[in-house]
Amino acid sequence: MKHDLQVSILKELMRQLDAGKNVDSGVQYRNPTSAYVCPDIANKEWAAFFQNHPQLIGLSGDLPQPGTYVTNDDFGTPVLATRDLDGKFRAFLNACRHRGARVAEGRGDAKRFSCPFHAWTYSAGGELVSIPQEDQFGAIDKSCHGLIELPAKESNGLLWVHPQPDGKIDLEAQLGPLLEEMKTLNCQDLTYVGESVIHKNLNWKLANDTFGETYHFQKLHRNTLGQIFYGDNLAYEEIGRNHRFVFAAKAIDQLRDIPEQEWELRGHANLLYFLFPNIQFNVGRDSIALIKIYPDPDHPGRSLTRVGHYFSEEAITAAANDANAGETVTRENVYDGEVRENAILSLEAITEVFDSTIEQEDYVMGEHQQKAAENGLLDHVIFGRNEPALHHYHNTFRDALGMPPLEKISP
Ligand code: FES
Ligand SMILES: [Fe+2]
Repeated sequence: MKHDLQVSILKELMRQLDAGKNVDSGVQYRNPTSAYVCPDIANKEWAAFFQNHPQLIGLSGDLPQPGTYVTNDDFGTPVLATRDLDGKFRAFLNACRHRGARVAEGRGDAKRFSCPFHAWTYSAGGELVSIPQEDQFGAIDKSCHGLIELPAKESNGLLWVHPQPDGKIDLEAQLGPLLEEMKTLNCQDLTYVGESVIHKNLNWKLANDTFGETYHFQKLHRNTLGQIFYGDNLAYEEIGRNHRFVFAAKAIDQLRDIPEQEWELRGHANLLYFLFPNIQFNVGRDSIALIKIYPDPDHPGRSLTRVGHYFSEEAITAAANDANAGETVTRENVYDGEVRENAILSLEAITEVFDSTIEQEDYVMGEHQQKAAENGLLDHVIFGRNEPALHHYHNTFRDALGMPPLEKISP
């Protein structure tokens, strides 16, 4: 992010903190709870946003060198993504051309993929290279029976796949000015360190909603994240269907005594991008948490969240060298002053705390909200003036599905 934008965001956050006032969109909305339970809406979302929309499946660090692969089965199209032997990011339907079994699972290194069913074998570039007992099976033209290729684009360290072979990935149209802004994050230099998978009984949009306001920080998270971040402040900007959402860390106060030219946003505020339709992209000082949220196509009241963690090499080395690394630091003790001020936490501690806060605090509220929505007596919920990301997110998905906008509440 350009330095002048960092400074203006940090100044806006300080202004809000000093005035004791959160962001104010000036408007409240009613959101019908049917949005979280209606099977018809769920089917339309699945078709439009997951079966026919580019998907961010990971970062370049998921495929660190030629001959590495990662699979994905979260949006209805089983994907095998590879870095081929020329180093190019490729994506294929993870379905053998013989009778459709998966040719790979999980992630790892492989120059060849041998189908576990009858051992048809494919290269990292998807070509069918061998068929066992071909004399008995009968002749097959291997040159036209490679894995079905899907559109794939690696851009500024982000790995995009389209689930339809004839789909288009147009990142300029999708991200607009964010494309340039996200370049400065240097995502291509980060290393994948692990992932948490959270299955919960909440609609995928309720999962997204938990990332959509800072109003809850000093309440729900007062003993955890609320120790590190201020609540009730937000520098917010809509960028097409996406948004940038920045809130102050308590460390922002360290900037008050140093010249603006030396101000840096990362480390002093939390930078969160929402990338339509289902990505929360959380930028830490030396890390990215890539939060991918998927509906359960068979049940509007369930969703799957994957939280992938990526760190810079410097952060990984520092953590390894740190005396605290390897200590078991859990959610229960990580926020006490001693651990916080002591040193860099082990990577496991950072990721464990981040993921468990989502699972054990935010998503517990989301499960309550889901139950209320399913009960039906609560027919709408209210989005306040201090929750503009929720306004934008819900109006955006409604617009994309041809639904009317949310109803404004008259003052
Ligand atoms: S299904 Fe893959 S080899 Fe038969
Ligand atoms: Fe939260």
